[in-house]
Amino acid sequence: MNEWRPDSWRLKTAKQQPVYPDPERLDKVMRRLAALPPLVTSWEIERLKSQVAEAATGRGFLLQGGACAESFDHCQPDVITAKLKILLQMSLILMYGLKRRIIRVGRFAGQYSKPRSEETETRDGLTLPSFRGDLINRQPFTAADRTPDPDLLLEGYQRAALTLNFIRALVDGGFADFHHPEYWDLDFTRHAPRASEYQRMVQSIGDSLGFMETLAGVQPGGLTRMDFFASHEGLHLLYEQSQTRQVPRRKGWYDLTTHLPWIGLRTSDPDGAHVEFFRGVRNPIGVKIGPETTRERLRELIDILLPDNEPGRLTFIHRFGRDKVETCLPPLIEEARAAGKTVLWCCDPMHGNTEPTANGLKTRRFDNILAELEQSFAIHADMGSVQGGVHFELSGDNVTECIGGARGLTETDLARAYKSQVDPRLNYEQALEMAMLIANKTALTTGRA
Ligand code: PEP
Ligand code: CO
Repeated sequence: MNEWRPDSWRLKTAKQQPVYPDPERLDKVMRRLAALPPLVTSWEIERLKSQVAEAATGRGFLLQGGACAESFDHCQPDVITAKLKILLQMSLILMYGLKRRIIRVGRFAGQYSKPRSEETETRDGLTLPSFRGDLINRQPFTAADRTPDPDLLLEGYQRAALTLNFIRALVDGGFADFHHPEYWDLDFTRHAPRASEYQRMVQSIGDSLGFMETLAGVQPGGLTRMDFFASHEGLHLLYEQSQTRQVPRRKGWYDLTTHLPWIGLRTSDPDGAHVEFFRGVRNPIGVKIGPETTRERLRELIDILLPDNEPGRLTFIHRFGRDKVETCLPPLIEEARAAGKTVLWCCDPMHGNTEPTANGLKTRRFDNILAELEQSFAIHADMGSVQGGVHFELSGDNVTECIGGARGLTETDLARAYKSQVDPRLNYEQALEMAMLIANKTALTTGRA
């Protein structure tokens, strides 16, 4: 294998990268980003890696969630707190049901670039580059807006920094304190179909806080808050490279744009630039796998990305769809086992269950999402493997993008509050309900109800 450097990925085929018309400006921006402070630190990254290692062996559970595409406009206090609130509420429910420590990882503070199936978009005879996310170009359909702009990399870095700063300040200030779950109530908590069930859970958790403190792995008396980590798809390799550094007293290189970057399905070729880049950084990383991932390909990814079987290093985020998970997942679990390696298996029940509606929107059905999750839990249990996490696209708002759930959203409801730039998200109530169903189901199957 060639020697790794932060830019050795340039020797490989890099899919999904923007073409900048002004290389000089791009160079300047890259130098500026390289000189600015990192967004996260190696201490945080190592802490997350050891927590992922615990989840991989069934002593913890990864809850990863957020928007499909984060936009610069999401850098607003209400939007950020709504996201934290739903992740906190879901993690409380999951902790209650799974009896495992929950690791909260947001798809935020950098989820600004998107893979696209088409390089260009044509409207009324005019062809322009596709919109690739706020980090790269702008959504309006004009040549100026769609031209990749390096200044957006700086703006993305700044928005990510502002977002992380607010989250850290909230957490340090007591917002995520277990003793005050009422801080996380959203306006409509009281009206959600399962609100009373949630309130009962909160009550019961409050009653046994000492017990929960032990479970959370924190010394009794020391449990004051829950941490958050950040993640995004590591799609734009120049952006990732610009903040990839060596740090004092540690070996190797860290990608300091985020804690847990993941490689998307479309860029997961073992011989491609993305796998080359991420093999060389010390972060815990995720790789999306889907129905087209063969045993051979999984083995190659494991060989390249997890050569030393480092605990917590590699998470496979599987997204097969409800009809395929039963045939696709077991051989891959067997392959990882045959390789003698421990990975974290995280179920993304969203991306394999996307479907178009009659009026051209993308949606997902609550029942399909739940069905893939349930099958996935059952397959891992049957095979003596560990379902160590879940990955959702969700919103802390009352959007109408996915069909179903206790309120029975239908296709006609979607028009009311469909706000996603790309993929449909579970809304607040649907996300809460999903967490409760997972928690109840697992409690039942493990006899812990
Ligand atoms: C995503 O997570 O938004 C995404 C594009 O997923 P995938 O790479 O699995 O298609
Ligand atoms: Co998506």
